[in-house]
Amino acid sequence: MPGDKSISHRAVMIAALAEGETVIENFLAADDCLATIRCIRALGIRVEGPDNGRVRVRGCGLQGLREPEEILDAGNSGTTMRLLLGILAGQPFFSVLTGDRSLRRRPMRRVTDPLRQMGATVLGRDNAAFAPLAILGRPDLKPLCYTSPVASAQVKSAILLAGLFADGYTSITEPARSRDHTERMLREFGAEIHVDGNAVAVKGRPQLKGTEIAVPGDISSAAFLLTAALVLPDADITVIDVGLNPTRTGIIEVMKIMGADIEVFATRKIGCEPIGNIRARSSRLVGTSVDKNLVPRLIDEIPVLAVLAAVADGVTVIRGAEELRVKESNRLTAMATELARLGADVTETRDGLIIKGGATLQGTTVDSYGDHRIAMALAVAGLAARGRTTIRGAECVSISFPGFFEVLNSLRP
Ligand code: S3P
Repeated sequence: MPGDKSISHRAVMIAALAEGETVIENFLAADDCLATIRCIRALGIRVEGPDNGRVRVRGCGLQGLREPEEILDAGNSGTTMRLLLGILAGQPFFSVLTGDRSLRRRPMRRVTDPLRQMGATVLGRDNAAFAPLAILGRPDLKPLCYTSPVASAQVKSAILLAGLFADGYTSITEPARSRDHTERMLREFGAEIHVDGNAVAVKGRPQLKGTEIAVPGDISSAAFLLTAALVLPDADITVIDVGLNPTRTGIIEVMKIMGADIEVFATRKIGCEPIGNIRARSSRLVGTSVDKNLVPRLIDEIPVLAVLAAVADGVTVIRGAEELRVKESNRLTAMATELARLGADVTETRDGLIIKGGATLQGTTVDSYGDHRIAMALAVAGLAARGRTTIRGAECVSISFPGFFEVLNSLRP
């Protein structure tokens, strides 16, 4: 599997703040993570690669970045923009961040508000709600004890990264626990991190030391192949060395509840992250319900879960997933509209989807909305459908899974 997107971003950013060299293996060389490398280079850090999945970062410590001469372009990547804002809040210089049309519409106040409370100056449209954003940071940020209204790893990470530049402890409490790769990796680089339920605290001004990071396979990318195996006849696939961080494995649990013949084995740890292999075979599936508390643990898998639900017997209800409306596209509307085009019975609700499974899907032309996960979910739906499905704008899979269609083709019997 291609490397984990979330972990790849964090490895480059945290390595840039560490002292000495970090070598990253199995880095995800996809558009989003390449945007992070470009931004880090524009901040004066030497980054070599990716070369066969290997990236070398020459970190210069917490104060080793320099004022960028150019606008930092995060492309389509929310993680790049939000996490970088956290780092830039601690820099005594001026930066401007922008992104593509999709990213410029995504909400940024969730990070710009707390970063302002810590002492950064941030300007942007609608009082720093949307990119382009201009930020003037300071190396002596005020520590913050923040309660976030949303369970978001991007918000949590931005605050923890800014907390590196504050004297004392900075903490964030979320309504539900989001992915914890930042906490794990900061610890790996030498920071002091405390976790207590849904609260995380970081001690400011640590000395981060360059290290080696092996990036696990991305479970969010694996989910498309696993779903394809579950919904197609006579299928049997195994994905190896996939990340199994418990804040990311909600999809496997839901698949099991739906009756999937799926097995996790050879579990072990690489560095600070658990990994393992996953085998999935053709299965008879039944509908289920997914509630708010589980959503952060499968946030990026809901589009493909909708495909699984459309093929399963019975009804699947997904609630508490309103965050999907502010992803790379409005993923609730996108999946409801496009699955309906394929013949599925899907109702969009304020915060989720109700899917009556069991319809026979019929291939047709569908739209990716320029969103990589919508394109890949629709490709899996297209495999389950009769006849040919054409996906408009399918090239956006390169955001997180370059070679996705080649991998699918290679799995043909
Ligand atoms: C990510 C966190 C999630 C996820 C995104 C990557 C990250 O977003 O949807 O694809 O790397 O931190 P939120 O934390 O904003 O929900």
